[in-house]
Amino acid sequence: MNRPERGEGYGASARWYDVIYSFKDYAAEAEALRSIIDAHRPGARRLLDVACGTGEHLRHLQAHFHVTGIDASPDMLAVAREKLPDVPLHLADMRSFDLGETYDAAICMFGAMGHLADAAEVTAAIGCIARHLTRPGVLIVEPWLSPEVFQDRHPSGLFVDQPALKLARLGISRRQGDRAILDMHHLVASPEGVESFVERMELSLFPQEVYRQAMLAAGMEVAFDPKGPMDRGLFTGTLPA
Ligand SMILES: C[S@@+](CC[C@H](N)C(=O)[O-])C[C@H]1O[C@@H](n2cnc3c(N)ncnc32)[C@H](O)[C@@H]1O
Repeated sequence: MNRPERGEGYGASARWYDVIYSFKDYAAEAEALRSIIDAHRPGARRLLDVACGTGEHLRHLQAHFHVTGIDASPDMLAVAREKLPDVPLHLADMRSFDLGETYDAAICMFGAMGHLADAAEVTAAIGCIARHLTRPGVLIVEPWLSPEVFQDRHPSGLFVDQPALKLARLGISRRQGDRAILDMHHLVASPEGVESFVERMELSLFPQEVYRQAMLAAGMEVAFDPKGPMDRGLFTGTLPA
């Protein structure tokens, strides 16, 4: 399949990512993650954030766990490293990483697995994460949109109005088979000037069964919360002792 190799769609926008998603309550999400981890893996100390992006979950979770992050985008990691200079953050691909360490808990949030091409890649990624987990261990995955809920040719608009920053992001999502193509047009005004850029995201519309089967294949017991932090659901996979 012809698609960008790594960190697709998070180049020019990486420095604006935290502004764009300032509507998200990462502190509340981190607290909810902590209580799920406590319920499934009491006493967990070491946590890995897979596709950690700019490190917003890690920023909150570091108060409770020894945290580590990986991401495939150098631009996103650069933002994370500025905020979290003492946290190990690795440039790595979730399909094939090997950190030589194990963790009691892992998370992969905000639909990051939607960047994978097909079910085999989801199985590879979840298998790879499972190899980094202790027994018992827990993995929490927030899926991206499933085919049933994706709206073809849906116009989206996001606007940020801060005293020293104005940002607009407009796009229309299109469906091509099992893929969603999102061309995001950004216009940003800051004291440095006005810049505009377009970023393309190509995401897979995996049925929820794809995530469940991948977790089962990795030997996990699977629980699913249909709501999750953003009404997109949340999978919890538990590895037995
Ligand atoms: C929507 S962002 C989510 C970031 C963060 N988890 C959050 O909740 O804000 C998706 C992230 O997945 C990363 N990503 C995409 N493909 C990846 C891969 N194969 N391996 C690791 N990270 C990947 C991107 O670079 C991006 O940082």
